[in-house]
Amino acid sequence: VFGRIDHIGVAVEDLDEAVALYSERLAMPLQHRETVEQQGVEAVLLGVGESHVELLRPLGPDTAVGRFLERNGPGLHHVAYGTDDIDSALESVRAAGLRLIDERPRTGIRNSRVAFVHPRSTGGVLTELVEAGH
Ligand code: CO
Repeated sequence: VFGRIDHIGVAVEDLDEAVALYSERLAMPLQHRETVEQQGVEAVLLGVGESHVELLRPLGPDTAVGRFLERNGPGLHHVAYGTDDIDSALESVRAAGLRLIDERPRTGIRNSRVAFVHPRSTGGVLTELVEAGH
């Protein structure tokens, strides 16, 4: 079902500072920057081989990442697994009895289709399924 780790999501308060950390001090190439209204974030992707680090700055306090920052401060937010077929991946996860945040995929960064699984059913790890945009 899962082909690879597509990215890890990191919640940040200051996006430019985080971009500087990852792109300059950690020397990861900056690949993409986009405001994803549906997820209430401004996001930046940096390359790590075939995978990415996704930096997430909330567009406001009343967003999923805004609430996360309020509770936990900056840090690791989610792990995203890549799949070629998110509809069937989502169905397998549902059939396995896991609690879904998204019953249906929604639009993510770079026109990907994404869905989140509730951390309560994945041992505390917010888990994202992602099918690359075409
Ligand atoms: Co993500």
